[in-house]
Amino acid sequence: MYFIANWKMFGNLKSINTINRVINLAKLTKFRKAKIVYCPPYTILDKFVKKTKNTRISIGAQNCHHDKNFGPYTGSINAKMIKQTGAKYVILGHSENRQTGDTNKIINLKLKSSLSENLNVILCFGEKLAERKKKKTFQVIKKQINIGLKNVKNYKKIIFAYEPVWSIGSGKVLNNKDLEYQIKVIKNYIVKKFKIKNPRILYGGSVNPKNINSLIEIRFLKGFLIGSASQKSKKFIDIIKKSIN
Ligand code: PGA
Repeated sequence: MYFIANWKMFGNLKSINTINRVINLAKLTKFRKAKIVYCPPYTILDKFVKKTKNTRISIGAQNCHHDKNFGPYTGSINAKMIKQTGAKYVILGHSENRQTGDTNKIINLKLKSSLSENLNVILCFGEKLAERKKKKTFQVIKKQINIGLKNVKNYKKIIFAYEPVWSIGSGKVLNNKDLEYQIKVIKNYIVKKFKIKNPRILYGGSVNPKNINSLIEIRFLKGFLIGSASQKSKKFIDIIKKSIN
């Protein structure tokens, strides 16, 4: 079970100590099955890496530049630089970055450059509300996955994260029946199209300690991508505890 903590543009040097309780939780045999990955902002990536050294927690970045080489890209950070911090994961295709210009093609370049640095990629995709209303959900997702994975030969390091855009940060989550159906359709598609036997598919969008009991019932899910609820260790732990029993 994956628990990816996406801290977005929050967190500073002081917040590092707030994860102590999660580090302790991860030591318990009972929570061996929990794969916890913190994705803090770039500015504190290496601090998180050092803090979690010799623990079972991994660290990831929230994005990267598409050029795998160094270059004149003001304000950007590439996969090589992320790798150098000791981080092992990177979130790509998050809707907040798609909104500010990441196209499927750019995400594909980012994905390939991350894989070439041996990073694990969490590929996010999902439909907007208007697309769902027009019954275009699957069409949109299919395109995001297809172009995102174009010319990729090895899928071993890819984790899929279904995040309906309208669900992120809104408190709104699909009912279990519809969400399970959606995940099943995505899974079947990935299995068939990319011949990945057991794709790791996560759900993200307003996951919190209240709805986790119900979300955990959904078959085919291998974990969660958690935004705001992951910034408070108490809530994050609550989610992990309720998921692993
Ligand atoms: P949220 O964010 O849990 O705050 O909805 C999820 C995400 O953006 O990955």
